Amino acid sequence: MTSKQFDVVVIGAGPGGYIAAIRAAQLGFSVACIDEWQNSTGGPAPGGTCTNVGCIPSKVLLQSSENFDQAGHHFADHGIQVQGLAIDVAKMLARKDQVVKQNNDGILFLFKKNKVSFFHGRGAFAAGGGAGYTVTVSGAAAETLAARHVIVATGSSARALSGAPFDEDKILSNDGALRIQSVPKKLGLIGSGVIGLEVGSVWRRLGADVTVLEALPAFLGAVDEQIAREAHKAFTRQGLKIELGVKVGEIRSGKKGVSVAWTNARGEAQMLEVDKLIVSIGRVPNTVGLNAEAVGLKLDERGAILVDEQCKTNLPDVWAVGDVVRGPMLAHKAEEEGVAVAERIAGQHGHVNFNTIPWVIYTNPEIAWVGQTEQQLKAAGVTYKAGTFPFMANGRARAMGDTTGMVKMLADAATDEILGVHIVGPMASELIAECVVAMEFRASSEDIARICHAHPSLSEATREAALAVDKRTLNF
Ligand code: FAD
Ligand code: NAI
Repeated sequence: MTSKQFDVVVIGAGPGGYIAAIRAAQLGFSVACIDEWQNSTGGPAPGGTCTNVGCIPSKVLLQSSENFDQAGHHFADHGIQVQGLAIDVAKMLARKDQVVKQNNDGILFLFKKNKVSFFHGRGAFAAGGGAGYTVTVSGAAAETLAARHVIVATGSSARALSGAPFDEDKILSNDGALRIQSVPKKLGLIGSGVIGLEVGSVWRRLGADVTVLEALPAFLGAVDEQIAREAHKAFTRQGLKIELGVKVGEIRSGKKGVSVAWTNARGEAQMLEVDKLIVSIGRVPNTVGLNAEAVGLKLDERGAILVDEQCKTNLPDVWAVGDVVRGPMLAHKAEEEGVAVAERIAGQHGHVNFNTIPWVIYTNPEIAWVGQTEQQLKAAGVTYKAGTFPFMANGRARAMGDTTGMVKMLADAATDEILGVHIVGPMASELIAECVVAMEFRASSEDIARICHAHPSLSEATREAALAVDKRTLNF
């Protein structure tokens, strides 16, 4: 078979891969992108984990379930009476599938617009080195592609607990967790990380009795402790049962449900009986099937592709980005790396600032942060000043009836440069953007304190937190 020649072949069309492909095409390269994800009818579904079983569908269900929760528990405060409130799970899931499809189609359109050739199937290295690489596409339309540069963006998959493989019926990964057909009476989650809290929130809001079993003794260990404490209080108040410091033992799945033997932090044996069990204990890089051995592409002990800070692998002209390499498993981190690699291939100076990658957990209250936590600054011996401002004292938050949480700003004690901002509360996901911009421009807390913020707006809480760094809040 003759091979089709491209400047750049991208394997994987998640946010890392499809964005890298588009940026490379914008820079004038001939580009192919290969992705194997199939929709329910076997057609292509580009967008990766993020679009199909991650960021997008989880946010759709978080929105639907939040609307339901608001109507059931908070509309009455506004004088709005709701009778006969019910959730039609099938309709909610169909809406989610529709939004996913819009995103799949959007990416196919963007490929066309940017003249990226899309190949639906599995990409694998066949041969290469020196003058370029041969990549095969297996699937319905088998092809052989030749490329000078290859960008691997194959993403990650859910990690299973040993002895409890995913069947996506009773024992669920993030995939099954986003298409449960009716609200389970009792839902168990293993791992109180980002997926555990977001997906657990969806089904709790719809009426499930949710228990989360977490191995670590601390709740949300990577989050600023003060913010994590506040979030823990809010989730517990909402009825999410979070057990910390547990050891999960035998898991048995039967016709009726799943039983989980576990030991609590005091060493007492416990048993959890649930209708469904979601296992969200982290993710593993996707490198199986890539035939990395064929070209000598080096992986680390976790199976992630080894790269330097520029996303270069051990092979010339082979790059890797996103979840399949080191660093946080976030869609926007994958995108940033994809853009930077395309620009580096074009001889430009692509850049990713790992210190200003925002994190968001889309629970209610939302949790968002950028930069260093207070515990990280202490551990590094950095002297800092902290300012906090509660949403309780913010006019817009009161108007919304959503006053949980705070904004916390950390600034260098000597220079006043902002070192981290941590938010738990309404629209934290949107508020964090200002803080990312501030840190990118190496702003001081005084810079934010002196900027006019619209009134009444949640963003005033950020300004007040900046004023609080200098102990001069105006509204608290
Ligand atoms: P992926 O999105 O995993 O895409 C990789 C693609 O490559 C897939 O389509 C896969 O099928 C394909 N592929 C793999 N191997 C091959 C092969 N050999 N040949 C062809 N194709 C192949 N991040 C956020 O930033 N915000 C969020 O709100 C968020 N929510 C999430 C919610 C959930 C439930 C989950 C599971 C994840 C969430 N994430 C979120 C994380 C985010 O989805 C990932 O960080 C992101 O998708 C990584 O992008 P990627 O391009 O590296 O890989
Ligand atoms: P995670 O790393 O966020 O959390 C996993 C949790 O499981 C940890 O708290 C860990 O201590 C715990 N754990 C591990 N093994 C365990 C065991 N045997 N028993 C009990 N607990 C155990 O991983 P998660 O939630 O699976 O999500 C994967 C990644 O997906 C996230 O790290 C994040 O990068 C990404 N994601 C991002 C989202 C966002 O940006 N809003 C949303 C969802 C996922």
